[in-house]
Amino acid sequence: MKFMKSIFSKLILLVFFATVVMSCSKTAEETEQTPMKEVDPHSFSQPDIAKITHLDWQATVDFDTQTIEATATYDIEKSQSAGQIVFDTNDLTILDVTDQDGNNLDYSLGETEPFLGRPLIVKIDDEVTRVGISYKTSPGAEALQWLNAKQTTGEQMPFLFTQSQAILCRSWIPIQDSPGIRITYNARVQVPEGMLALMSATNPTARNESGEYEFAMKQPIPAYLMALAVGDIDYAPVSERTGVYAEPAVLKPAAWEFAEMETMVQAAEELYGPYAWDVYDLIVLPPSFPFGGMENPRLTFATPTILAGDRSLTSLVAHELAHSWSGNLVTNATWDDFWLNEGFTVYFEQRIMESVYGRDYSEMLALLSYQDLQSTINKLNSKGLAEDTKLKLELAGRNPDDGMTDIAYNKGYFFLRLLEENFGRETFDNFLKTYFKENAFKSMTTEDFVEYLKKNLFEANSVTWDQELIDRWIYGEGLPADAPVPESDRFEQVDKVMQSWLAEQPIGILIPQEDLLTKKWSSHEWLHFIRQIPNDISVQQMKELDDYLQFTYSGNSEILAAWMVHVIRNQYEPGYENLENFLVSAGRRKFLVPLYGEMAKTDSGLEMAREIYAKARPNYHYVSTSTIDEMLGWQEEVN
Ligand code: BES
Ligand code: ZN
Repeated sequence: MKFMKSIFSKLILLVFFATVVMSCSKTAEETEQTPMKEVDPHSFSQPDIAKITHLDWQATVDFDTQTIEATATYDIEKSQSAGQIVFDTNDLTILDVTDQDGNNLDYSLGETEPFLGRPLIVKIDDEVTRVGISYKTSPGAEALQWLNAKQTTGEQMPFLFTQSQAILCRSWIPIQDSPGIRITYNARVQVPEGMLALMSATNPTARNESGEYEFAMKQPIPAYLMALAVGDIDYAPVSERTGVYAEPAVLKPAAWEFAEMETMVQAAEELYGPYAWDVYDLIVLPPSFPFGGMENPRLTFATPTILAGDRSLTSLVAHELAHSWSGNLVTNATWDDFWLNEGFTVYFEQRIMESVYGRDYSEMLALLSYQDLQSTINKLNSKGLAEDTKLKLELAGRNPDDGMTDIAYNKGYFFLRLLEENFGRETFDNFLKTYFKENAFKSMTTEDFVEYLKKNLFEANSVTWDQELIDRWIYGEGLPADAPVPESDRFEQVDKVMQSWLAEQPIGILIPQEDLLTKKWSSHEWLHFIRQIPNDISVQQMKELDDYLQFTYSGNSEILAAWMVHVIRNQYEPGYENLENFLVSAGRRKFLVPLYGEMAKTDSGLEMAREIYAKARPNYHYVSTSTIDEMLGWQEEVN
């Protein structure tokens, strides 16, 4: 109800503002053509009245109290007689709020709403051009993960990293936390001596004595791309404009694993135009990072679980790099339009992988995506969440995280692939290139995209507009029947081996030792193989595979995670010890959820899950614990 009220009051303000604008500056005709701006249901801010344009952030990071104390000073742009500017906050202590001359401004904090935190409403008169907010974060700030030295690889220093997407930036910076609002920023950050600090901005490549670092992001970005990492971090260049940051112990293997970064940037530029952010670096974070990767501009944040030692999981780099166009340049206007970020990025990622490794390689990835998509659709349907299988979401009143499923990624991908197949690659590539160029540094709603598509792909190529295609793919549920189906000869070979093995031919004959040694199969073929293992195989069969193929000890996190699902399902005890090791050390939610989920299906499994979780939970980020707490019925104070 409260939620409805806040939306309602926003709408009233919007209508009021639109009327004021209409009456003073525009003709009625002009106004009719201006579509009503989309209201972001996950932000309290009222950008049409007053919005931030630049942030100057002065911060001190305190590992002892696990807090950041900072002043965020914003340049603002406002309508005449705006009267107030509204920020998003979550669990922040506001110390004071001042104008450009240091005069105190009146402010109030509204009520806390589920998921959203609370609005900070600052009174401003016509003269106010800058607003400075001094504040402190709370030790439980949802975006921040504070690790003690023992939780890092080198065990030398503590570590801090942020994860702002989707709406967690407000837990470390009071900000207008909507993807439709962009700012440039400068920062000065004080960290303990001996540590390096990095942001989604121009970054140092070496530590200094004082522990004070300066940053600048001159291209405007939305709040969900604000990022900070602090710790025992070193840098290794990969090319002139790409490089890797990591803890010293991980730096060398990381630089080796990602040696193809420059090749990927070039492939991406070749496809869709110049890289707009000058430098592309990647930081390998400690294992508790809850995602595979996060596309913080100029500095992708990545999980160490992609350090497979054979460059087999670098499609993640292609993915985060692709976001430098789809997402960071052209940004989803609200989280309901999330597929515009992720679907485009998976499509772009696929194209980079195809260009660097060839079509037969990228088709394996596409087929894995297809499998993921089908299983996500089945899961959502069985949970009564068929609504969430639409590309365009309706997440008002819900946690935007609920919309972060394979639908946005893979249904989005297959929709774009269908357009490519229907229009031909050249035409579609030209369309995409222009789309990124014309909409750079802007936000995009699904509806605006549909309009753009109609005009620039259909009409521009004299093709009759197909509203049904849009209704089916964007506004409809499930996977439409005209979805392209990837074909992979390499996976067909894998299927044959699986069939023969199930027909009781020994695995050692089907896959001779020398094929293992020469690595005839990539990790994707192995992943496909594991996914094809039927649910009801015997422990003896599990053992036969494992003795020969050593899945339980795989250094490849994707293989390990897929295999461990079978370990749990078939109660294959030789796998238990490494299952626990994996769950205690890795914090990537994508791996944790299926494994805890599989355990939670039986009473004994649930007991095991809770035992492991008690040990592992301190290593997980809020993003992961918030999901798994719910799955396991975990209450912190009880356990
Ligand atoms: N931007 C996402 C991560 C994200 C999404 C964080 C929603 C918070 C909310 C990132 O680009 C991503 O998609 N990461 C994937 C890896 C990718 C290869 C599919 C991941 O972390 O698994
Ligand atoms: Zn992504």
